[in-house]
Amino acid sequence: MYSLPKNITIIEVGPRDGLQNEKQLVSTDAKLHFIEGLQQAGIIEMELTSFVSPKWVPQMADSKEIVAGAKKTGRQFVLTPNERGITAALEAGAYALAVFVGVSESFNKKNINKSTAESMAALKPLILDLKDRGVFVRACISTAFYCPFEGAIKPEDTIRLCQEFVEWGVDELSVADTIGMANPAESHYLFKQLKEQFPDTLITAHFHDTRKMALANIYAALQAGVDRFDASAGGLGGCPFAPGATGNVATEDVVNMMHRMEIETGIDLERLYEAIKKIETHVSNPINTGMYTLYKNRS
Ligand code: HMG
Ligand code: MG
Repeated sequence: MYSLPKNITIIEVGPRDGLQNEKQLVSTDAKLHFIEGLQQAGIIEMELTSFVSPKWVPQMADSKEIVAGAKKTGRQFVLTPNERGITAALEAGAYALAVFVGVSESFNKKNINKSTAESMAALKPLILDLKDRGVFVRACISTAFYCPFEGAIKPEDTIRLCQEFVEWGVDELSVADTIGMANPAESHYLFKQLKEQFPDTLITAHFHDTRKMALANIYAALQAGVDRFDASAGGLGGCPFAPGATGNVATEDVVNMMHRMEIETGIDLERLYEAIKKIETHVSNPINTGMYTLYKNRS
């Protein structure tokens, strides 16, 4: 038997994961309006932007302006993989950082230009220092289930990487199905292990929805005790270095599913759609808001 939580937290990743894959540059103003709309919808944790090389991800080149312009309410993360990014993010006013690394060597090399071991060796002193300074640290674990180049990843390898981060004192592990290939049995197995082995660390599930199993994977993770989920408004997103992967699970779909199960999210679905409307004219693929009409007509 299992019991579902009464509340869950959604960490909105639309402004970062959602937009990083957009080829056409979205203006800083449009991004800030989107962020503001998301905050007005009740989002209290969000990845605002990333401090990465603008040569690698041109869409995130305005990260300083985004941190300066976004309201500092709740927990607003910036994502970065290295010392240069951490320093610049803190100087810009960031107070919660997300670092990232891939379990798969090939993916990490494509994404960060380092082996996984090199990334971990570089991150360790940086994370220890951030924790000494009281900064909230979230560690994002990419290719926790499947890699676009190496195929299936062993759960033990993902757990071993998570263990290192836990030993360094990170506050949160966001464990990602980067290319959206995991199934609910795999989701349940891995998240149950993580919840059991790391009871004092926040565990968050991050699903891309390539094979349309993200909601099922979230339900399986819920059953394993997870109560934090990354999601992207409008289902935007994807990693430019993970070929074939589509966007994150759509925030509105997660909110709808949770509310239907009487699990609170603190997010107002109608206002969330208003936030999506603010960004939909700036992105290349149409956002499917059909479910919203259904929601309005039947609830
Ligand atoms: P590199 O070329 O090996 O490193 O890139 P470098 O040190 O030679 O730097 C190259 C240039 O970038 C230099 O500038 C650096 O100064 C600059 P130049 O001298 O040529 O003018 N640079 C930076 N600029 C701004 N901010 C920085 C920074 N670092 C260096 N932080 C590097 C290595 C890590 C920089 C590069 O590979 C990179 O930026 N990668 C980022 C890739 C990325 O953003 N991926 C998407 C995010 S992860 C993700 O989406 C997965 C996730 O959603 C979970 C999941 O779904 O799996 C989190
Ligand atoms: Mg992602």
